[in-house]
Amino acid sequence: MKVLFVCLGNICRSPSAEGVFRQRLALRPSLQVTVDSAGTAGYHIGKSPDTRSMAAARKRGIDISGLRARQVTAEDFHRFDLILAMDRSNLSDLRRLDPGNGAELRLFMEYAPDQPLEVPDPYYGGEQGFEQVLDMLEAAADALLDELQAAC
Ligand code: 4NP
Repeated sequence: MKVLFVCLGNICRSPSAEGVFRQRLALRPSLQVTVDSAGTAGYHIGKSPDTRSMAAARKRGIDISGLRARQVTAEDFHRFDLILAMDRSNLSDLRRLDPGNGAELRLFMEYAPDQPLEVPDPYYGGEQGFEQVLDMLEAAADALLDELQAAC
């Protein structure tokens, strides 16, 4: 199984999703999942995650400082089985780029039905937004991992 997390800039939500998912995946050694993240926009290509995202993740024992932003490519739709968007705008951008016959496209938060359906963009807000994003990503990551584990 190959999973790609996608947001707009690939510096806040999707690298955080990748970090959270990797941390929790490591607790389930029977699961083989390839994980990556990307942005629909190209503004931040090559950059490290936002310092606020790195700090919030670090507080939870997750190091995302080695990740570098990249933009979604047409190839991603064939390389990955599942592409998970952080919000509806990301999902509609992905649908527009999708050449078809490849990855399943979904909102990541669909996996956590007791949570809001969209991960809010924390970029222009305060530190609390980054904590809220991590709380939501943790819930969805655990739910997705439960589903993957049940299927194998
Ligand atoms: P992300 O957040 O999509 O969660 O990485 C954003 C990062 C940068 C911008 C917008 C959202 N920006 O406009 O530069």
